[in-house]
Amino acid sequence: MKTVKVLTLDDFDLNGKTVFLRVDMNCPIDSKTLEISGTKRIEEAIETIKALEKSKLVIASHQGRVGNNDYTGMDRHAIVLEQLLNKKIKYVEDVIGQAAQEEIKNLKNGEILLLDNLRLCAEENYEFSPEDAAKTIMVQRLSKLFDLCVLDSFPSAHRAHPSIVGFPYVLPACAGRIVEREVRNLDNIMTVAKAPHVIVLGGSKVPDRLEAIKMLIKNGRADHVLLTGLIGNVFMRAQARIKYPLGIKREEEVVAKAHALIGEYPDVFSTPVDVAIDKDGQRVELDVRELQTGDKIYDLGPKTVEHYSKIIASAGTVFISGPAGFFEKENFSFGTKSLLNAVADSMATTLVSGGHLTTALKEQGLEEKINHISTAGGALVLYLTGEKLPMIKALENAAIKYRSGT
Ligand code: 3PG
Repeated sequence: MKTVKVLTLDDFDLNGKTVFLRVDMNCPIDSKTLEISGTKRIEEAIETIKALEKSKLVIASHQGRVGNNDYTGMDRHAIVLEQLLNKKIKYVEDVIGQAAQEEIKNLKNGEILLLDNLRLCAEENYEFSPEDAAKTIMVQRLSKLFDLCVLDSFPSAHRAHPSIVGFPYVLPACAGRIVEREVRNLDNIMTVAKAPHVIVLGGSKVPDRLEAIKMLIKNGRADHVLLTGLIGNVFMRAQARIKYPLGIKREEEVVAKAHALIGEYPDVFSTPVDVAIDKDGQRVELDVRELQTGDKIYDLGPKTVEHYSKIIASAGTVFISGPAGFFEKENFSFGTKSLLNAVADSMATTLVSGGHLTTALKEQGLEEKINHISTAGGALVLYLTGEKLPMIKALENAAIKYRSGT
């Protein structure tokens, strides 16, 4: 992949400038209390926010997806930010309306304003070409209030939303510290990555994952795909080893896609042979053939972990994304912890991705043994396919424009 050097914060005089900073503070949310249950992504945003301390800073992020439990306002994020920075954060329950615009105009040097969830604005839920994103009401209304756009939401770099591809089309734009670091490290890693490429995939965003898996295999980036978590269950249903519906969105469609993938690449996929289910709060391990209708699969069993660990040990490059089960519950964290240990012990080039796994990695003190850790999930999977992500393209084009003075 040919890389154009993108601009960074070091290329601009930030003093007194009104800056639009797109971060990714999309955090896990407790479905009962609606409280933020993991603040890692907010913590990560701090470095770039501090680098912009002499600007009039407007921070924007999405949280969850419309219709999902984790779709909330950003009021709690404002409180967490305030605590982490030990500084007053202005917060407005608005994104593109009069209230938000007035707050932006009234900002003074050194002040920080957090906008509400970007996805409250309908346009932010659709993908656009950069030209069309620049024509959205969001970009038309807000861009005239800013001097600079800083993109630092690497976990959403694969989304061609107006806040990601529209603002950099009309404003000078650069990468924030997270994006700068991720791109530099990943480019370095991709030049040393060698076969066999082992991908360990779990997590719950199944439709996104299915598309990416196909591209990874086609582009020679996945010799073995070891499936865990919800996506593992989908493939087991496709193999008719789970004989009951899993109760997930668009289930028949995703199962059919998984079935087609197995047919096309029969030697690439491994699925669990044993699992742990939840029986009245207790962990019960059983062979996949013993599953009964309605059994809730919360973790991998020991035979699967042993088998997957052997494949990981023989890898040239290992990429692991998404937890292997309900790892927040101690008695179902075995699979996730064991696979992370196997990755940390391997001699391969190692990448760990996604908020859940990076938290688990930290808890186990394994961070030092991993080559690259990223809080991005889906964005990183797509990056590894060799596809250029919309955000990176937008930053490269902004750099070309800036350097040519147009
Ligand atoms: C993520 O957590 O992967 C990013 O924040 C993107 O979220 P999305 O998949 O809802 O666009």
